[in-house]
Amino acid sequence: MDLPTRDKSKNLVENSVCFSEDPTLTSIVNEVTASQLTKLNLNTSQHDNEEFYEKAKKYWETVSPTIDGILGGFAEVSPRDIQSSAQLLTAIFRLKPRPGRSRALDCGAGIGRVTKHLLVRFFDKVDLVEQCPQFATQIPEYVGDTKHLGEIYTQGLQDFTPEEGKYDVIWTQWVLGHLTDDDLVAFWRRCISGLAKGGVIVMKENTSSSNEVEVDNEDSSVTRPLKLIRQLLREAGLREIRIQKQENMPRGLFPIYMIVMRASR
Ligand SMILES: C[S@@+](CC[C@H](N)C(=O)[O-])C[C@H]1O[C@@H](n2cnc3c(N)ncnc32)[C@H](O)[C@@H]1O
Repeated sequence: MDLPTRDKSKNLVENSVCFSEDPTLTSIVNEVTASQLTKLNLNTSQHDNEEFYEKAKKYWETVSPTIDGILGGFAEVSPRDIQSSAQLLTAIFRLKPRPGRSRALDCGAGIGRVTKHLLVRFFDKVDLVEQCPQFATQIPEYVGDTKHLGEIYTQGLQDFTPEEGKYDVIWTQWVLGHLTDDDLVAFWRRCISGLAKGGVIVMKENTSSSNEVEVDNEDSSVTRPLKLIRQLLREAGLREIRIQKQENMPRGLFPIYMIVMRASR
């Protein structure tokens, strides 16, 4: 799942000891066994890619446009998540060169949770990209703050190109697992062109603790190990300038990392 989600590979290990004695644990283990924790094998053909995106689109159409819906029933983590992100943004504004505060881009924005609680506090205008029309139309009402609300692009990130030199910060959270490896690298390359002078790209995503790419067939997403994320960002021409783990999350969730990146040259 590309949202705050239980790390099923961990559950499997933690629960396997006594599952035969406990019917509840038996069902958890069965669910884990049925879910496919397999190596990512995307990018095999155009058809497979289209199916990958189509399935995700269909999944999100079934989700209610609320914080609990967007966060898969984990609405309670939102304040902690935002607090750590705000600390990270404060540190970003101490970087040299320092990013401006004119315009941010919220990618895979959902109904605008990150924009409303984080980005409008730091930037004059925030643009948002969200593929699901049902969420995108909800953004103005949910964010409320029309003074800071910029453009809303109802588009998949795999098709989206930011305007050249426009953004001080490009924020991507709990969405990049919905892109294939090739599309992620291509998206990051386009983001580099979309950055204003001193601008940075921030990624906040689940990572797999199993060191394998974990595929979720329900929402059609993948959870990548940190090692692969780092390999892909280098491939895109990015360098990591800060990495931070999200602390204080409920036990058993995938480890969440925030990575701040700039073009390597
Ligand atoms: C877990 S929600 C996260 C929303 C928001 N980033 C947040 O943290 O509140 C994932 C969002 O990504 C969107 N999404 C899924 N695939 C996408 C894609 N290919 N391009 C853009 N958005 C996508 C979904 O529609 C959903 O709104």
